[in-house]
Amino acid sequence: MRVGLTMKLWETGREKTDVIVERFTAQDDLPLDEALARYDVLGSLAHAAMLQKIGVLTAEEHCRLRGALLELLDQKLTLSVEDEDIHTKIENLLVARLGELGQKLHTGRSRNDQVLADLRLYAKERLQEIALELLALAEALAEFAQKHEFVPMPGYTHTRRAMPASVGLWAAAFSESLLDDVKLVKAVYELNDASPLGAAAGYGVPLALDRALTAELLGFKAVQRNALAAMNSRGKLEFATVSALGSVMLTIGRLADDLVWFSSEEFGFFEIPERFCTGSSLMPNKTNPDLLELIRARVARVVSAGGAVALVVHGLTSGYHRDLQETKEPFMKSLLTTRDCLAVLSRLIPELRVNEAKLRAACSAEIFAVDRVLEEVQRGVPFRKAYQNLKRELSALRVPNLKDALKKRAHLGGPGNLQLDVLKSEIERAHREWRVERERYLKTLDRLIHQ
Ligand code: ARG
Repeated sequence: MRVGLTMKLWETGREKTDVIVERFTAQDDLPLDEALARYDVLGSLAHAAMLQKIGVLTAEEHCRLRGALLELLDQKLTLSVEDEDIHTKIENLLVARLGELGQKLHTGRSRNDQVLADLRLYAKERLQEIALELLALAEALAEFAQKHEFVPMPGYTHTRRAMPASVGLWAAAFSESLLDDVKLVKAVYELNDASPLGAAAGYGVPLALDRALTAELLGFKAVQRNALAAMNSRGKLEFATVSALGSVMLTIGRLADDLVWFSSEEFGFFEIPERFCTGSSLMPNKTNPDLLELIRARVARVVSAGGAVALVVHGLTSGYHRDLQETKEPFMKSLLTTRDCLAVLSRLIPELRVNEAKLRAACSAEIFAVDRVLEEVQRGVPFRKAYQNLKRELSALRVPNLKDALKKRAHLGGPGNLQLDVLKSEIERAHREWRVERERYLKTLDRLIHQ
């Protein structure tokens, strides 16, 4: 029988797994599992503490296991196909280090609930980062809006000039959309904030596991009660999470698209500092907005990841299936992609230069047509009649005082009444909430590690 560092947890030793099987089942997953190593060790620390509490491990055994796990926590683990996965690698390392004691750790759990817990912890941390980045961007946009609140800018429909608007309205619009997105992020964070540990293979075990304890030690707010529901949430939770991220990406993809256009020679409304641009290998005259173009394109990555996850989950019967491993990559990558796009934008926005002359020049007379029509209406002319009168005299329109025109749009949410202080206090409140959550979470892990 083959015993040693690369043995599978389920191997009998009768026949060695074909290398083609090892490669096919593990290869793509290895870098992802390496990124999960830390969470796997944290989960094991909590599981070991629980096993001691319910009498499966003695205090001395728990102490030795803890010591070995803590050493692994600081190591960068690299996997190869013979290791199969991170759970196997860590168990093999523990067995090599502690002998039989290492073989006790897996009591009352399965890799199925283990990988769920790893992914939940990974998602929670990335979602915290995403929420904080998202709010930093919302804040940067609100500041930008305030600084340029009454700088006129045409509003477009059908990509044609439509109405007078402002840089303030444009920037605050994205800030407000991001506040909607942060609500979605919060909802999926809560779903990820329930511990699956103890579900084992999806059917529980004949042992008095203390699931509330492992949940608490890992900083989970709740336990996913029904063992099978916990198992069946694999992939579905990923889908919900990636969908929320898709919404974030749709918001910032549009922001990136606006910026690509509005910073072009054709518009010239904004200027992107050169250090955020790239050049052409052929044309010395060019500075290109590659950064923004890639953000725009990465919407596809995240939104299609939702489809990829849903298609894996769709059609699976209850319980664990190896298919579910395929949801790992779109899930983990979407979290990183979204976080990184947000981080880039929140650094760019405060640096964006505004060309007020170009913006004013683009506010041509015809976009004030509705202003004139509504003046007629106020004198008692029915709207449709005033509209038709004006349509015949479009060429006579003149550009009015731009600031006055904006201030007249004084209803709630109009360019003259953006209520930026309300927006900013909402952002600040959400920011505080997420900072508190992040602190609470980090403190809990710190306790688990240093107890
Ligand atoms: N790599 C596996 C996954 O991501 C871990 C769980 C394996 N469980 C099993 N029963 N083969 O799903």
